[in-house]
Amino acid sequence: MNLRAELKKNIDWVGYVDYGVRDFHSYDTHRGATYNAYLVRDEKTALIDTVKGPFAPQLLRNVAALTDLDKIDYVVCNHAELDHSGALPAVMAACPNATLVCNAKCLETLAGLFDISGWKTQVIASGDTLSLGSRSLTFVNIPMVHWPESMVSYMPEEKILFSNDAFGQHLATSERFVDEYDLAKVLEEAKSYYANIVTPYGRQVLKTLEVASQLEIETIAPSHGLIWRGNVDVIVNAYKTWATGKYAPKVLIVYDTMWQSTEAMAEEIYAGAVAFNETLPPDAPRLDVQTMHARRTTLTRLATEALDAAAIAFGSATLNANLMPAMGAVLAYFQGLKFREKAALSFGSFGWGPGGAEAIQKALENDLKYPTLAAPLKSKLRPTPEVLKQCREAGAALAAEAWRRYEADR
Ligand code: FEO
Repeated sequence: MNLRAELKKNIDWVGYVDYGVRDFHSYDTHRGATYNAYLVRDEKTALIDTVKGPFAPQLLRNVAALTDLDKIDYVVCNHAELDHSGALPAVMAACPNATLVCNAKCLETLAGLFDISGWKTQVIASGDTLSLGSRSLTFVNIPMVHWPESMVSYMPEEKILFSNDAFGQHLATSERFVDEYDLAKVLEEAKSYYANIVTPYGRQVLKTLEVASQLEIETIAPSHGLIWRGNVDVIVNAYKTWATGKYAPKVLIVYDTMWQSTEAMAEEIYAGAVAFNETLPPDAPRLDVQTMHARRTTLTRLATEALDAAAIAFGSATLNANLMPAMGAVLAYFQGLKFREKAALSFGSFGWGPGGAEAIQKALENDLKYPTLAAPLKSKLRPTPEVLKQCREAGAALAAEAWRRYEADR
């Protein structure tokens, strides 16, 4: 594949579109991914970021179609993670006159990943500027968006922010710019990307947005997905919403079931939450209530829906006096993502000894630190009408709390 796209005169996308990838360190990339690299040709020639190691030949072919490889003066590394740095050994070998430009932390990380002893390197600090002739790059560290060494490169003359992981989406397409594609799909993938990769660093994202607000930006060129051209406010505003953890009017019921008793409880919680909508004024937004079977839904999808949910009920049948493994994975994943606190509820069935609902309650209280509305809702074997009634009432109470949180955030 030999695709290129021009951002501005002599500033070209030269990356790789990976239609085949479906697992990106556990992220479900159901629409594929791209690794974006950019070539700036001026008095000096700079390659900004590279691609995953196996795709180095395609990157070098794209670059060689525009310039001789021995004319590359600089290779800028904004982020040492291997989806952007993996091709560096091949690139540095193929470009004999190139100097690697990165911050000190990045160089230290790269030295732990590759043999960099033969590379020419230039360590820059946040705020430094590298002149390329009529254009320049100013580097700004954005630690933990996504790794400690992460930085962005800003070109003031063209008002382009090369933002690396920030503002990206995992989306493979033949288009290169957001304005050439379906915006709803781009935002769906940008939200998924934010929820699954960026969420733990929300505070740092807000600081990055503060830095970005002081720059004149017309184009955001991320290292994944489509390029924001003339519509940067769309993604910047979306990031502000996600980074503050603003609640949507949304309730999730995430569960795993063995012989459908826990599922029957989930359905009653759902019914109670949906019925809450009838108490709202006709012109009010409706609560979005969703049941999600943990074993039939990817963690990526669950996290994307959870990002802005105001309340979540977690349910599990009892297996080996504990919760079902899929629910263990959900709780561990959500704990790591550090979403803003959700109103929560635990529920589940058991046969002869307790386990599932209690384990969830413990994780909610001790690990996730989500306030639970009640003690665990439990059913011994099939839920009785009384248990189902309790589930319905708990669903309505959870919905009311979700609505209260949504209203308080408006
Ligand atoms: Fe796209 Fe943190 O790498």
